[in-house]
Amino acid sequence: MDTVAQAFAPPPRIGMLGGGFMARTHTRAARTAGAHLDVIASSTAARSRRAATELGYETSTAGDDFFDHDLDVVHVCTPNTSHAEHALRALDAGFQIICEKPLATDSTAARSIVDRAQALGLSGTVPFVYRYHPMVREARARIRRGEAGALLTIDASYLQDWLLSAEDDNWRVDAESGGPSRAFADIGSHLVDLIEFITDERIVSLTATTRTVHPRRGGAAVTTEDTVAMTVEMSGGAIGSVLVSQLAPGRKNGLVIEVAGAQESLRFAQEQPEQLWVGRRAGSQLLMRDPDTLSPDAARLCTVPAGHPQGYQDAFNAFVADSYAVFAGEKREGVPTLADGVRAALVTEAVLRSAAERTWVEVEAP
Ligand SMILES: NC(=O)c1ccc[n+]([C@@H]2O[C@H](COP(=O)([O-])OP(=O)(O)OC[C@H]3O[C@@H](n4cnc5c(N)ncnc54)[C@H](O)[C@@H]3O)[C@@H](O)[C@H]2O)c1
Repeated sequence: MDTVAQAFAPPPRIGMLGGGFMARTHTRAARTAGAHLDVIASSTAARSRRAATELGYETSTAGDDFFDHDLDVVHVCTPNTSHAEHALRALDAGFQIICEKPLATDSTAARSIVDRAQALGLSGTVPFVYRYHPMVREARARIRRGEAGALLTIDASYLQDWLLSAEDDNWRVDAESGGPSRAFADIGSHLVDLIEFITDERIVSLTATTRTVHPRRGGAAVTTEDTVAMTVEMSGGAIGSVLVSQLAPGRKNGLVIEVAGAQESLRFAQEQPEQLWVGRRAGSQLLMRDPDTLSPDAARLCTVPAGHPQGYQDAFNAFVADSYAVFAGEKREGVPTLADGVRAALVTEAVLRSAAERTWVEVEAP
């Protein structure tokens, strides 16, 4: 079966699971894409009602009747360990899904979502949203055209500071809500998706080390990692270093990826998403986002002219619009799918295993 069999005429009717940061971000994107905001469910009836009022949903619930609504798409924006159950229930009810990362907190559960979607002729996407910055697409296009040359090295990091102190706490810290990996599943997964997306290569093996800097937070023992350092080997022969931390003072969403090829280096930094540094032995350039000069796939994601900055919400808007288009049976370039969610789960498991066994681990091929 394919998704066309389940196609709906846009705009879709959507249901939102969750009422926090991502529910707000997804809702703004859904509204921009013209979706009908049908129902929202948060963790309690009162929170659901408040979220419905604040975000503009027709109705709210905190119960199972969520899945009785007449919907086209369900957005899953709840804590990590609930994703798989919510995703499967939404698919069983006949809805396409946009399920937040991590798709599931283990690869078996993630695969079961892909299998269920396939069996039901439905599909889904996972918001590896940094793919939707035009300058990321530009970097990918240049590598695909061979301008960078054979890839040699990758230097990538995602650094934050919001969990710097032992007093900082969040549901992500607790494996019961966040899953066995925290820093890597939360932000390392974005970085790995971006590395593989930009380079068109796979991480084939890795060796990782992790640290839990604060053994207790919020009065409880912490089992999830604060920091991760790893070395990777890519399918095309490049090698790379990857650093992930939620304890790096001054870094908020410091996602940086620099790929060096035999001819050119390309460097994208999420906090300056309007730029792409093109490094050359002679004549390095800072390329600014300008739809008139970019490759077609980068230019299609430019919603405002050069010089008016685009950012995170714009990337989200484009991702959600592409997801709805794919659900409606259209083709779109570079949409992160449920299979990409499985991929992130496999890499996360490899990281945890490598750190626990202090050894190199082969990452299962997609
Ligand atoms: N793609 C991205 O860029 C990105 C960025 C941030 C977070 N995320 C992901 O989005 C998800 C949500 O993160 P967040 O930052 O919005 O967290 P949050 O804490 O701001 O919001 C979580 C919400 O889920 C609600 N909730 C908890 N259990 C629920 C249940 N059983 N049913 C319905 N609602 C429930 C909570 O009340 C809260 O409103 C996480 O899985 C996270 O990894 C993705």
